[in-house]
Amino acid sequence: MTSLLRILGIETSCDETAAAVVERHADGTSQVLSDVVLSQLEEHSAYGGVVPEIAARAHVEALDTLIEEALKRANMSLEDVDAIAATSGPGLIGGLLVGLMTGKAIARATNKPLYAINHLEGHALTARLTDGLSFPYLMLLVSGGHTQLILVRGVGEYERWGTTIDDALGEAFDKTAKLLGLPYPGGPEVERAARSGNPDRFDFPRPLVGEARLDFSFSGLKTAVRQAALAIQPLNEQDIVDICASFQRAISRTLKDRIGRGLQRFRAEFPTFAGEPALVVAGGVAANLEVRGTLQALCDKEGFRFIAPPLRLCTDNAVMIAWAGLERMAIGTAADDLEVQPRTRWPLDATAQTLIGHGKRGAKA
Ligand code: KG4
Ligand code: ZN
Repeated sequence: MTSLLRILGIETSCDETAAAVVERHADGTSQVLSDVVLSQLEEHSAYGGVVPEIAARAHVEALDTLIEEALKRANMSLEDVDAIAATSGPGLIGGLLVGLMTGKAIARATNKPLYAINHLEGHALTARLTDGLSFPYLMLLVSGGHTQLILVRGVGEYERWGTTIDDALGEAFDKTAKLLGLPYPGGPEVERAARSGNPDRFDFPRPLVGEARLDFSFSGLKTAVRQAALAIQPLNEQDIVDICASFQRAISRTLKDRIGRGLQRFRAEFPTFAGEPALVVAGGVAANLEVRGTLQALCDKEGFRFIAPPLRLCTDNAVMIAWAGLERMAIGTAADDLEVQPRTRWPLDATAQTLIGHGKRGAKA
Protein backbone atom coordinates (compact mmCIF):
# COMPACT_ATOMS: atom_id res chain seq x y z
CA MET A 1 0.00 0.00 0.00
CA THR A 2 1.25 3.48 -0.81
CA SER A 3 2.10 5.85 2.01
CA LEU A 4 -0.97 8.01 1.71
CA LEU A 5 -4.39 7.06 0.46
CA ARG A 6 -7.24 9.42 -0.19
CA ILE A 7 -10.71 8.28 -0.96
CA LEU A 8 -13.97 9.93 -1.92
CA GLY A 9 -16.97 8.44 -0.12
CA ILE A 10 -20.58 8.60 -1.33
CA GLU A 11 -23.66 7.72 0.74
CA THR A 12 -27.23 7.70 -0.61
CA SER A 13 -28.87 4.60 0.89
CA CYS A 14 -31.68 6.35 2.75
CA ASP A 15 -32.62 9.97 3.40
CA GLU A 16 -29.19 11.56 3.73
CA THR A 17 -27.17 12.55 0.68
CA ALA A 18 -23.53 12.65 1.71
CA ALA A 19 -20.01 12.96 0.33
CA ALA A 20 -16.68 13.01 2.13
CA VAL A 21 -12.94 12.80 1.56
CA VAL A 22 -10.84 10.85 4.06
CA GLU A 23 -7.11 10.12 4.00
CA ARG A 24 -5.18 7.35 5.63
CA HIS A 25 -1.46 7.36 6.31
CA ALA A 26 0.80 4.33 6.17
CA ASP A 27 0.98 4.21 9.98
CA GLY A 28 -2.79 3.71 10.14
CA THR A 29 -3.62 7.24 11.29
CA SER A 30 -6.19 9.09 9.30
CA GLN A 31 -7.85 12.42 8.78
CA VAL A 32 -11.28 13.48 7.66
CA LEU A 33 -10.62 16.12 4.99
CA SER A 34 -14.27 16.92 4.36
CA ASP A 35 -17.68 15.69 5.47
CA VAL A 36 -20.80 17.01 3.76
CA VAL A 37 -24.29 15.74 4.62
CA LEU A 38 -27.59 16.97 3.29
CA SER A 39 -30.54 15.66 5.26
CA GLN A 40 -33.89 15.26 3.49
CA LEU A 41 -35.81 15.47 6.75
CA GLU A 42 -37.98 18.34 5.57
CA GLU A 43 -38.96 16.59 2.34
CA HIS A 44 -40.22 13.57 4.27
CA SER A 45 -41.58 14.97 7.51
CA ALA A 46 -45.01 15.78 6.10
CA TYR A 47 -45.42 12.06 5.32
CA GLY A 48 -44.32 10.82 8.75
CA GLY A 49 -41.53 8.70 7.26
CA VAL A 50 -39.12 8.31 4.36
CA VAL A 51 -40.81 8.21 0.94
CA PRO A 52 -38.47 6.21 -1.35
CA GLU A 53 -39.40 8.04 -4.56
CA ILE A 54 -38.89 11.46 -3.00
CA ALA A 55 -35.58 10.30 -1.52
CA ALA A 56 -34.27 9.07 -4.87
CA ARG A 57 -35.15 12.33 -6.62
CA ALA A 58 -33.58 14.39 -3.87
CA HIS A 59 -30.34 12.37 -4.15
CA VAL A 60 -30.24 12.99 -7.91
CA GLU A 61 -30.67 16.70 -7.38
CA ALA A 62 -28.08 17.07 -4.64
CA LEU A 63 -25.32 14.53 -5.16
CA ASP A 64 -23.18 16.22 -7.86
CA THR A 65 -23.05 19.49 -5.95
CA LEU A 66 -22.29 17.69 -2.70
CA ILE A 67 -19.37 15.82 -4.23
CA GLU A 68 -18.00 19.08 -5.63
CA GLU A 69 -18.38 20.67 -2.22
CA ALA A 70 -16.63 17.76 -0.47
CA LEU A 71 -13.69 18.00 -2.90
CA LYS A 72 -13.54 21.77 -2.54
CA ARG A 73 -13.48 21.59 1.25
CA ALA A 74 -10.72 18.98 1.04
CA ASN A 75 -8.92 21.37 -1.28
CA MET A 76 -8.57 18.88 -4.09
CA SER A 77 -9.95 17.72 -7.41
CA LEU A 78 -11.09 14.29 -8.53
CA GLU A 79 -7.60 13.71 -9.89
CA ASP A 80 -6.19 13.86 -6.36
CA VAL A 81 -8.22 11.01 -4.89
CA ASP A 82 -6.93 7.45 -5.12
CA ALA A 83 -10.27 5.68 -5.10
CA ILE A 84 -14.04 6.04 -4.86
CA ALA A 85 -16.18 4.31 -2.23
CA ALA A 86 -19.94 4.26 -2.70
CA THR A 87 -22.65 2.61 -0.62
CA SER A 88 -24.15 -0.21 -2.64
CA GLY A 89 -26.50 -1.63 0.00
CA PRO A 90 -28.52 -2.27 2.05
CA GLY A 91 -31.01 0.53 1.52
CA LEU A 92 -33.63 1.97 -0.77
CA ILE A 93 -33.03 0.96 -4.37
CA GLY A 94 -33.54 4.42 -5.92
CA GLY A 95 -30.98 6.07 -3.67
CA LEU A 96 -28.50 3.22 -3.98
CA LEU A 97 -28.69 3.43 -7.77
CA VAL A 98 -28.00 7.16 -7.72
CA GLY A 99 -24.93 6.86 -5.47
CA LEU A 100 -23.46 3.72 -6.96
CA MET A 101 -23.94 4.85 -10.57
CA THR A 102 -22.33 8.19 -9.76
CA GLY A 103 -19.42 6.34 -8.13
CA LYS A 104 -19.07 4.11 -11.16
CA ALA A 105 -19.14 7.05 -13.55
CA ILE A 106 -16.42 8.86 -11.61
CA ALA A 107 -14.34 5.69 -11.39
CA ARG A 108 -14.62 5.10 -15.11
CA ALA A 109 -13.96 8.71 -16.10
CA THR A 110 -10.90 9.04 -13.85
CA ASN A 111 -9.71 5.46 -14.15
CA LYS A 112 -9.66 5.00 -10.38
CA PRO A 113 -10.74 1.94 -8.40
CA LEU A 114 -14.30 1.71 -7.08
CA TYR A 115 -15.21 0.12 -3.75
CA ALA A 116 -18.86 -0.87 -3.36
CA ILE A 117 -19.46 -0.57 0.37
CA ASN A 118 -21.97 -2.20 2.68
CA HIS A 119 -23.58 0.64 4.64
CA LEU A 120 -23.60 -1.49 7.81
CA GLU A 121 -19.87 -2.08 7.45
CA GLY A 122 -19.47 1.70 7.46
CA HIS A 123 -21.27 1.89 10.81
CA ALA A 124 -19.35 -1.12 12.11
CA LEU A 125 -15.87 0.26 11.38
CA THR A 126 -16.39 3.92 12.35
CA ALA A 127 -15.00 3.47 15.86
CA ARG A 128 -11.65 2.50 14.37
CA LEU A 129 -11.49 5.87 12.68
CA THR A 130 -12.69 7.88 15.67
CA ASP A 131 -11.08 5.89 18.49
CA GLY A 132 -8.44 3.71 16.87
CA LEU A 133 -10.20 0.64 18.24
CA SER A 134 -8.63 -2.81 17.69
CA PHE A 135 -10.54 -5.97 16.78
CA PRO A 136 -12.55 -7.71 18.10
CA TYR A 137 -15.31 -5.59 19.60
CA LEU A 138 -19.09 -5.48 19.87
CA MET A 139 -21.22 -3.02 17.94
CA LEU A 140 -24.82 -2.11 18.66
CA LEU A 141 -26.51 -0.45 15.71
CA VAL A 142 -29.77 1.23 16.68
CA SER A 143 -31.24 3.31 13.87
CA GLY A 144 -34.58 3.81 12.15
CA GLY A 145 -34.04 0.69 10.08
CA HIS A 146 -31.79 -1.58 12.11
CA THR A 147 -31.35 -2.98 15.57
CA GLN A 148 -28.40 -5.32 15.53
CA LEU A 149 -25.74 -6.50 17.90
CA ILE A 150 -22.70 -7.43 15.86
CA LEU A 151 -19.38 -8.98 16.76
CA VAL A 152 -16.76 -7.20 14.66
CA ARG A 153 -13.83 -9.62 14.31
CA GLY A 154 -12.01 -7.85 11.50
CA VAL A 155 -12.57 -6.02 8.23
CA GLY A 156 -15.12 -8.16 6.41
CA GLU A 157 -15.55 -10.48 9.40
CA TYR A 158 -18.84 -9.91 11.15
CA GLU A 159 -21.09 -12.12 13.25
CA ARG A 160 -24.61 -11.02 13.95
CA TRP A 161 -25.42 -11.98 17.51
CA GLY A 162 -28.81 -10.34 17.73
CA THR A 163 -31.36 -8.54 15.60
CA THR A 164 -34.95 -7.41 15.90
CA ILE A 165 -37.68 -9.83 15.00
CA ASP A 166 -40.10 -7.00 14.19
CA ASP A 167 -39.63 -3.23 14.48
CA ALA A 168 -36.29 -1.45 14.65
CA LEU A 169 -35.72 0.57 17.82
CA GLY A 170 -35.81 3.96 16.05
CA GLU A 171 -38.99 2.83 14.34
CA ALA A 172 -40.54 2.01 17.75
CA PHE A 173 -39.75 5.56 18.88
CA ASP A 174 -41.17 7.00 15.65
CA LYS A 175 -44.38 4.95 15.86
CA THR A 176 -44.90 5.82 19.52
CA ALA A 177 -44.49 9.50 18.70
CA LYS A 178 -46.96 9.27 15.82
CA LEU A 179 -49.50 7.56 18.03
CA LEU A 180 -49.22 10.38 20.55
CA GLY A 181 -49.48 13.08 17.89
CA LEU A 182 -45.82 14.10 18.14
CA PRO A 183 -43.97 15.10 14.95
CA TYR A 184 -41.55 13.00 12.85
CA PRO A 185 -38.86 11.91 13.51
CA GLY A 186 -40.25 10.83 16.84
CA GLY A 187 -37.14 9.80 18.73
CA PRO A 188 -36.03 13.26 19.85
CA GLU A 189 -39.67 14.24 20.59
CA VAL A 190 -40.27 11.20 22.78
CA GLU A 191 -37.00 11.84 24.60
CA ARG A 192 -37.92 15.48 25.23
CA ALA A 193 -41.42 14.61 26.47
CA ALA A 194 -40.06 11.79 28.66
CA ARG A 195 -37.97 14.26 30.64
CA SER A 196 -41.01 15.65 32.42
CA GLY A 197 -42.94 12.38 32.65
CA ASN A 198 -43.39 9.69 35.27
CA PRO A 199 -41.64 6.48 34.12
CA ASP A 200 -43.49 4.41 36.73
CA ARG A 201 -47.01 5.28 35.65
CA PHE A 202 -47.30 2.56 32.99
CA ASP A 203 -45.77 -0.87 33.28
CA PHE A 204 -45.01 -1.56 29.62
CA PRO A 205 -43.76 -4.99 28.51
CA ARG A 206 -40.10 -5.75 27.89
CA PRO A 207 -40.25 -8.44 25.23
CA LEU A 208 -37.64 -11.22 25.22
CA VAL A 209 -36.16 -10.03 28.50
CA GLY A 210 -34.73 -13.04 30.28
CA GLU A 211 -34.34 -15.12 27.13
CA ALA A 212 -30.91 -16.50 26.26
CA ARG A 213 -31.05 -15.48 22.59
CA LEU A 214 -29.80 -11.97 21.94
CA ASP A 215 -32.61 -10.77 19.66
CA PHE A 216 -34.95 -7.83 20.16
CA SER A 217 -38.67 -7.29 19.68
CA PHE A 218 -40.50 -3.99 19.95
CA SER A 219 -43.89 -4.50 18.35
CA GLY A 220 -45.51 -5.76 21.58
CA LEU A 221 -44.34 -2.64 23.32
CA LYS A 222 -45.83 -0.51 20.57
CA THR A 223 -49.16 -2.33 20.94
CA ALA A 224 -49.11 -1.81 24.71
CA VAL A 225 -48.50 1.91 24.19
CA ARG A 226 -51.43 2.07 21.79
CA GLN A 227 -53.72 0.29 24.23
CA ALA A 228 -52.68 2.55 27.10
CA ALA A 229 -53.28 5.62 24.94
CA LEU A 230 -56.70 4.38 23.78
CA ALA A 231 -57.76 3.59 27.33
CA ILE A 232 -57.36 7.19 28.48
CA GLN A 233 -58.61 9.17 25.48
CA PRO A 234 -58.50 12.15 25.19
CA LEU A 235 -54.86 12.34 26.21
CA ASN A 236 -53.71 15.39 28.09
CA GLU A 237 -50.13 16.74 28.24
CA GLN A 238 -49.35 14.80 31.40
CA ASP A 239 -50.58 11.53 29.91
CA ILE A 240 -48.34 12.02 26.88
CA VAL A 241 -45.17 12.73 28.85
CA ASP A 242 -45.91 9.85 31.24
CA ILE A 243 -46.37 7.42 28.34
CA CYS A 244 -43.09 8.63 26.79
CA ALA A 245 -41.21 8.26 30.07
CA SER A 246 -42.65 4.78 30.71
CA PHE A 247 -41.89 3.74 27.12
CA GLN A 248 -38.30 4.88 27.42
CA ARG A 249 -37.95 3.09 30.74
CA ALA A 250 -39.13 -0.16 29.11
CA ILE A 251 -36.60 0.35 26.29
CA SER A 252 -33.78 0.93 28.76
CA ARG A 253 -34.62 -2.18 30.75
CA THR A 254 -34.80 -4.22 27.56
CA LEU A 255 -31.42 -2.95 26.36
CA LYS A 256 -29.90 -3.59 29.76
CA ASP A 257 -30.96 -7.23 29.66
CA ARG A 258 -30.20 -7.93 25.98
CA ILE A 259 -26.88 -6.09 25.76
CA GLY A 260 -25.85 -7.28 29.23
CA ARG A 261 -26.13 -10.84 27.93
CA GLY A 262 -24.18 -9.84 24.82
CA LEU A 263 -21.30 -8.51 26.93
CA GLN A 264 -21.26 -11.73 28.92
CA ARG A 265 -21.18 -13.77 25.74
CA PHE A 266 -18.21 -11.72 24.56
CA ARG A 267 -16.41 -12.53 27.79
CA ALA A 268 -17.21 -16.22 27.36
CA GLU A 269 -16.02 -16.27 23.73
CA PHE A 270 -12.81 -14.37 24.40
CA PRO A 271 -11.74 -15.55 27.86
CA THR A 272 -8.14 -14.47 27.31
CA PHE A 273 -8.97 -11.05 25.85
CA ALA A 274 -6.18 -8.71 26.85
CA GLY A 275 -7.22 -5.27 28.07
CA GLU A 276 -10.65 -3.76 28.23
CA PRO A 277 -13.14 -5.02 25.64
CA ALA A 278 -15.39 -2.45 23.97
CA LEU A 279 -19.00 -1.89 23.04
CA VAL A 280 -19.57 0.65 20.27
CA VAL A 281 -22.95 2.22 19.60
CA ALA A 282 -24.11 3.62 16.25
CA GLY A 283 -27.32 4.88 14.66
CA GLY A 284 -29.67 7.74 15.40
CA VAL A 285 -31.06 6.25 18.64
CA ALA A 286 -27.54 6.59 20.07
CA ALA A 287 -28.45 10.28 20.48
CA ASN A 288 -30.86 9.33 23.25
CA LEU A 289 -29.34 10.23 26.60
CA GLU A 290 -31.24 7.61 28.55
CA VAL A 291 -30.16 4.90 26.11
CA ARG A 292 -26.58 6.14 26.32
CA GLY A 293 -26.70 6.28 30.10
CA THR A 294 -28.05 2.74 30.29
CA LEU A 295 -25.32 1.39 28.01
CA GLN A 296 -22.62 3.36 29.81
CA ALA A 297 -23.72 2.02 33.22
CA LEU A 298 -23.87 -1.50 31.85
CA CYS A 299 -20.37 -1.23 30.38
CA ASP A 300 -19.03 0.19 33.65
CA LYS A 301 -20.53 -2.74 35.52
CA GLU A 302 -19.22 -5.38 33.12
CA GLY A 303 -15.77 -3.84 32.66
CA PHE A 304 -16.28 -2.77 29.04
CA ARG A 305 -15.22 0.44 27.39
CA PHE A 306 -18.28 2.24 26.01
CA ILE A 307 -17.64 4.08 22.77
CA ALA A 308 -20.19 6.43 21.27
CA PRO A 309 -18.62 8.19 18.26
CA PRO A 310 -19.67 11.83 17.74
CA LEU A 311 -23.30 11.86 16.68
CA ARG A 312 -22.46 13.18 13.24
CA LEU A 313 -20.56 9.95 12.61
CA CYS A 314 -23.12 7.73 14.39
CA THR A 315 -25.89 8.71 12.00
CA ASP A 316 -25.70 8.32 8.23
CA ASN A 317 -22.69 10.01 6.63
CA ALA A 318 -20.14 9.44 3.86
CA VAL A 319 -17.06 9.53 6.10
CA MET A 320 -17.85 6.02 7.31
CA ILE A 321 -18.21 4.82 3.71
CA ALA A 322 -14.89 6.38 2.71
CA TRP A 323 -13.31 4.88 5.82
CA ALA A 324 -14.66 1.38 5.09
CA GLY A 325 -13.13 1.73 1.61
CA LEU A 326 -9.79 2.72 3.12
CA GLU A 327 -9.91 -0.21 5.51
CA ARG A 328 -10.50 -2.53 2.57
CA MET A 329 -7.66 -0.97 0.59
CA ALA A 330 -5.34 -1.21 3.59
CA ILE A 331 -5.76 -4.99 3.80
CA GLY A 332 -5.35 -5.33 0.05
CA THR A 333 -8.96 -6.11 -0.92
CA ALA A 334 -9.42 -5.93 -4.69
CA ALA A 335 -11.53 -3.08 -6.01
CA ASP A 336 -15.01 -3.91 -7.27
CA ASP A 337 -15.86 -4.58 -10.85
CA LEU A 338 -17.81 -1.76 -12.45
CA GLU A 339 -20.55 -4.28 -13.12
CA VAL A 340 -21.31 -4.39 -9.37
CA GLN A 341 -25.02 -3.98 -8.64
CA PRO A 342 -26.80 -2.36 -5.68
CA ARG A 343 -28.29 -4.71 -3.08
CA THR A 344 -31.36 -3.59 -1.16
CA ARG A 345 -30.82 -6.48 1.28
CA TRP A 346 -27.25 -7.19 2.23
CA PRO A 347 -26.67 -8.66 5.68
CA LEU A 348 -23.19 -8.06 7.10
CA ASP A 349 -23.15 -11.61 8.34
CA ALA A 350 -23.98 -13.78 5.33
CA THR A 351 -24.61 -16.78 7.57
CA ALA A 352 -27.21 -15.03 9.75
CA GLN A 353 -30.79 -16.17 9.27
CA THR A 354 -33.46 -13.71 8.21
CA LEU A 355 -35.90 -13.34 11.10
CA ILE A 356 -39.55 -12.56 10.56
CA GLY A 357 -39.96 -8.84 9.98
CA HIS A 358 -36.22 -8.34 10.55
CA GLY A 359 -36.74 -4.70 11.49
CA LYS A 360 -36.82 -3.32 8.00
CA ARG A 361 -38.85 -0.24 7.26
CA GLY A 362 -38.51 0.05 3.54
CA ALA A 363 -34.86 -0.81 3.71
CA LYS A 364 -33.75 2.02 5.88
CA ALA A 365 -30.39 1.51 7.50
O1 KG4 B 1 -29.32 6.56 12.01
P1 KG4 B 1 -30.47 7.47 11.73
O2 KG4 B 1 -30.23 8.95 11.77
O3 KG4 B 1 -31.12 7.19 10.35
C1 KG4 B 1 -31.49 5.97 9.86
O4 KG4 B 1 -32.36 5.30 10.46
O5 KG4 B 1 -30.93 5.65 8.82
O6 KG4 B 1 -31.61 7.11 12.77
C2 KG4 B 1 -32.84 7.75 12.76
C3 KG4 B 1 -33.67 7.16 13.87
C4 KG4 B 1 -35.10 7.65 13.85
O7 KG4 B 1 -35.95 6.54 14.03
C5 KG4 B 1 -35.14 8.60 15.02
O8 KG4 B 1 -36.41 8.71 15.62
C6 KG4 B 1 -34.14 7.98 15.96
O9 KG4 B 1 -33.10 7.53 15.13
N1 KG4 B 1 -33.64 8.98 16.92
C7 KG4 B 1 -33.84 8.89 18.25
C8 KG4 B 1 -33.29 10.08 18.81
N2 KG4 B 1 -32.76 10.82 17.80
C9 KG4 B 1 -32.98 10.13 16.65
N3 KG4 B 1 -34.44 7.97 19.00
C10 KG4 B 1 -34.49 8.17 20.32
N4 KG4 B 1 -34.01 9.28 20.94
C11 KG4 B 1 -33.39 10.24 20.22
N5 KG4 B 1 -32.91 11.33 20.83
ZN1 ZN C 1 -27.31 3.90 8.81
